[in-house]
Amino acid sequence: MVKAAIAGASGYAGGELLRLLMFHPEVDVVQITSETYAGQFAYFVHPNLRGHTTLQFTSLSELQTCDLLFTALPHGKTWEQIEKYAGMADRIIDLSGDFRLRKPEDYVRWYEHRHPHPEWLDRFIYGLPELHREEMAGAKYVSGVGCNATVTILALNSLYKRGLIRETVVEVKVGSSEGGHRPSPASHHPERSGVVRTYSPFGHRHIAELIQELELDPGKPGLHFTVTSVELVRGALATCHCLLKEPVAERDVWAMYREDYQDEPFVRLVRSKRGIHRFPEPKLLSGSNHCDIGFVSDPDGGRLIVVAAIDNLMKGAAGSAVQSMNVMYGWNEKLGLEFPGLHPV
Ligand SMILES: NC(=O)c1ccc[n+]([C@@H]2O[C@H](COP(=O)([O-])OP(=O)(O)OC[C@H]3O[C@@H](n4cnc5c(N)ncnc54)[C@H](OP(=O)(O)O)[C@@H]3O)[C@@H](O)[C@H]2O)c1
Repeated sequence: MVKAAIAGASGYAGGELLRLLMFHPEVDVVQITSETYAGQFAYFVHPNLRGHTTLQFTSLSELQTCDLLFTALPHGKTWEQIEKYAGMADRIIDLSGDFRLRKPEDYVRWYEHRHPHPEWLDRFIYGLPELHREEMAGAKYVSGVGCNATVTILALNSLYKRGLIRETVVEVKVGSSEGGHRPSPASHHPERSGVVRTYSPFGHRHIAELIQELELDPGKPGLHFTVTSVELVRGALATCHCLLKEPVAERDVWAMYREDYQDEPFVRLVRSKRGIHRFPEPKLLSGSNHCDIGFVSDPDGGRLIVVAAIDNLMKGAAGSAVQSMNVMYGWNEKLGLEFPGLHPV
């Protein structure tokens, strides 16, 4: 059994990791950390785990050596201590933004902070198995992926890698759990409940990941990206309006996506002509590691609307991290993740 620890296990992403790893046949979770809840049982914070674990949180300062360390800490916490953590664990999967970008100057541009350990950036593999499976196999260090970046990259990669897109306008609608477990004025119930609130019309940090992974021109990416908070706890829905260089028939788009994703265990193409579930919906993915993708072309084929959905805490965070772990260790990629979302929920 691989002995794993989760730093930041009281958070939403860390809690979801704990839920998944407790039922993973190859992993034994030996330590979980929280500063606020050190000494408390995991189920005090994550009551869904009551009866399944007697683990108690410890402070990060008491972290012990382990085989695999998951860091689910806020941005800017893991990069400070990366040398120390690398000395304590054979492998690390970091869910934050600290090691997602390859170029140190991108941290200055998008995070307004100089990276304290730029020499570590090319040691981390960008944690999207659909794009980096081969590099990830056997890797020691894997980064997480931004949840909004995950859903958008999976939606658009087939079109960008074939050079079909002239310009794209992406609107991502997101649930409140993206903001983490610490309350803020924006998450206070009277302010958050019922909102349709655009909070990032320009300059969202995840654009840096889109430029990097979709290989866009950093100076002129031609991709416009807006994020809006909506009445969901879990979920992200990307609606991508793609203006194509040349018209492409919908059946040809279908063939491209099928070629790219037919063997992917967690990407499903949604193509129902009838009924109410004709396009992906995050609500149907709650608790599952799937990314659902659908599309529709306008009649002249010059504009394609791609719609993709995920659960931000699963395929957007903990689920993808477990999938990456399976690839790193050479296990079946679906291990510990083979269940659908809830319906109805
Ligand atoms: N939420 C998402 O949808 C999502 C998706 C993808 C990636 N991520 C990334 O995953 C990471 C965790 O996100 P989250 O939403 O789970 O955040 P969160 O709910 O706020 O949890 C943060 C965790 O870090 C701990 N922590 C906070 N400040 C700390 C400090 N100074 N020293 C040590 N531990 C500290 C917290 O412990 P306490 O109990 O002491 O507060 C908590 O366990 C972030 O980097 C985020 O960007 C999140």
